[in-house]
Amino acid sequence: MSTESNIDPIRSYLLSPHYSLLVAHNVPFPPRGRNEAIALDSQSGYNKKLPHTTSKRHEDLMDTRKVYIETYGCQMNLADTELLLGLLKPHGYEPTQVAAQADVILLNTCAIREHAEEKVMRRLGNLVRYKAQRPGVLLGLMGCMAQHHREKLLDKAPFLDLVLGPDAYHNLPVLLAQEDKDEPLVAVRLDRDETYADISPVRAEGVRAWVTAMRGCDKFCTFCIVPYVRGRERSVPLDALLEQVRELAAQGYKEVVYLGQTVNAYHDGDCDFSDLLRRTAAIEGIERIRFTSPHPSDMSERVIEAMATCPKVAPYLHLPLQAASNRVLERMERGYTVEQYAALVERLRAAVPGLALSTDIIVGFPGEEEADFRATYDFMAEIRYDSAFMFKYSAREGTKAYKWGETLSEEEKGRRLQEIIALQERISGELNRQTIGQTVEVLVEGPAKRQKGWLAGKSGQFKTVVFPGNSARPGDLVPVLVVSATAHTLVGEARR
Ligand code: 5AD
Ligand code: SF4
Repeated sequence: MSTESNIDPIRSYLLSPHYSLLVAHNVPFPPRGRNEAIALDSQSGYNKKLPHTTSKRHEDLMDTRKVYIETYGCQMNLADTELLLGLLKPHGYEPTQVAAQADVILLNTCAIREHAEEKVMRRLGNLVRYKAQRPGVLLGLMGCMAQHHREKLLDKAPFLDLVLGPDAYHNLPVLLAQEDKDEPLVAVRLDRDETYADISPVRAEGVRAWVTAMRGCDKFCTFCIVPYVRGRERSVPLDALLEQVRELAAQGYKEVVYLGQTVNAYHDGDCDFSDLLRRTAAIEGIERIRFTSPHPSDMSERVIEAMATCPKVAPYLHLPLQAASNRVLERMERGYTVEQYAALVERLRAAVPGLALSTDIIVGFPGEEEADFRATYDFMAEIRYDSAFMFKYSAREGTKAYKWGETLSEEEKGRRLQEIIALQERISGELNRQTIGQTVEVLVEGPAKRQKGWLAGKSGQFKTVVFPGNSARPGDLVPVLVVSATAHTLVGEARR
């Protein structure tokens, strides 16, 4: 623990009244010689890409150092954290779950909504104490928020040592090996070819592995920051993906989840997403295949056909809708009408019996009238999604919609959100209770969180199922009779 006597300038700054102002209101703090620092290429604010090498000295000294990464946001970010751990491993860095023990502390961040960014800034203010306690500890921000705010971040958080955008992770080992770490380093060049296909991620243990199939997004929905922070769409070559999945099967993983911002737009030049699904289904040991998130406009007949004909492809689809008013969809530039989306759901449901559906909804998009909102509400009631992720619109600087300003108060957005949450809660409960009396196949993940001695896993429809433990082990597929259900969980009894 630090004492008053070893307080360094950062700590004394943290104890000063400026600090809370900094976190709450982004008040700039006198920088520490930063102008030169951002500077790998200060003209553009973008760094030059560094070679993928390790310094000789670093290799010689290869003692184990510890890296702590906290991940915010989507599954893509979780997968990127695993990727970064894999990238650092050959350079002598092991992961730790304890920030106080780490030599390098990183926050892998999300920029999708303002709330996510505020959370990260608060956490950063909290973690900076480790720099004060242990000289030499490096604190960095990586991911979408790092890309979004780039060097401006150093005004808000002058104590940062590293700012790394989603396409700049290859730079990290080189930056860490540099002797002079006095100046913060910013690596935020977007790279339309970067797929990290050469890296073996260090994955969390479990039965399910997340595999990034494509990165970036070319859709530019008017509310969304993703295309600006993750760059252009690009796919990992099919053979590299299949090789990864074969390895995963050999390691005992049973389920693979392909990830991508618009994952069904996957195309490596020769093969499309349906090819990827079919070829993956042929890999022995992999029992289930999922993917997230597809874009409705990229949901080709070939992909639907692959879902329908490959039993390993689970009958579950997350199909973001965002809104069900054509006026709003058009202003969002989503690329489909409500009628086209509804027809797609019909085709999917006809092709894949028992298909479970989830979605994303945004309420309070600029210009959303009460009638538009009602249309979304009614459409959700009609489609009856199994679950939904529902958000209040958050204006993101740099997007097209940002320029339109907000047209609704936070209170009104909150009211609309609560209405659809209540609707969805009711529908999820009703659909789950309809499964009572059915037997579902559960891929066992491990002990249930709440009930001692019980096991938990997911059904093919991606519903959480808990049941009293028997001889089943993680990775087993167990038939479970559903005996009761809530909006979030099915409760059952193993049939063997
Ligand atoms: N405000 C609110 N929600 C957003 N999303 C993306 N951008 C915003 C924003 N600016 C939601 C969309 C997307 C999900 C991942 O996040 O619903 O599908
Ligand atoms: Fe954002 Fe639209 Fe791309 Fe999804 S498809 S990541 S919402 S721009």
